[in-house]
Amino acid sequence: MIQFDILTLFPEMFAGVFDTSIIGRARERGFVEITLHNIRDYAPGKHRVTDDTPYGGGGGMIMKPEPIFYAVEAILNVEIPKEGYNKLHRQGYPPIVLLTPQGQPLGQPLVQKWVTDYERILFICGRYEGVDERVRQYLATDELSIGDYVLSGGEIAAMVMVDAMTRLIPGVLGDTEATTKDSHSDGLLEYPHYTRPAEFRGHGIPEILLSGHHANLEVWRRQQSLARTLARRPDLLTATDLSEADQSFLDSLPQNPAAGEDEGD
Ligand code: ADE
Repeated sequence: MIQFDILTLFPEMFAGVFDTSIIGRARERGFVEITLHNIRDYAPGKHRVTDDTPYGGGGGMIMKPEPIFYAVEAILNVEIPKEGYNKLHRQGYPPIVLLTPQGQPLGQPLVQKWVTDYERILFICGRYEGVDERVRQYLATDELSIGDYVLSGGEIAAMVMVDAMTRLIPGVLGDTEATTKDSHSDGLLEYPHYTRPAEFRGHGIPEILLSGHHANLEVWRRQQSLARTLARRPDLLTATDLSEADQSFLDSLPQNPAAGEDEGD
């Protein structure tokens, strides 16, 4: 069971994603608990202001620190010391992740590590031009980015992280094998999949899938993974453990292998 707390100015954005399919079912079955917290609820004053103009000018609006600090203090029932939340984190309090394009790039090994290491994670979704730097300095324990592009806010990035982590919790997916063969889980892209019909509009499927020869099929799948990774993401191969058989198969491929031509996941 993992607990996710999401601090956002737009909790309504999450409804469809968190109520449907794998995540919806994982919540119903108690594998994850997701709580959405509206940062505005913690903003002081009658108008509950959550943003303000930047010191020094420059335009745009910056998220104020107080509502975010107050929200964390209320959620975790703790007072954040002047030297910063990291002190509490070192004592066992959960990590606080600020989602930002300036963060550490997310990859499957990092997703796996977070699921394994933590029982509770807080996410802060930034909006507008940015978040007051003191949130970075004295509150966030980690900053994560889901890629080198800029979203309108951290909400979609938080959904991505919660989705990627939830499906790795043992028991969430029916088939335990499914996640170990995912693209990226072993540093390679996944082999191609086919289902019925065996012939569609004159397009057949690879013979080997109908052969019933399990050992050959495993070799074929491994080679498809390797060829596809070489064609599409050769950068991944340098960071992957390859057997001698893997390496000699790769060496046997022509410079421009056809493996990258099909559509797949
Ligand atoms: N907020 C805006 N863009 C983002 C990104 N690429 N990753 C995480 N949070 C973001």
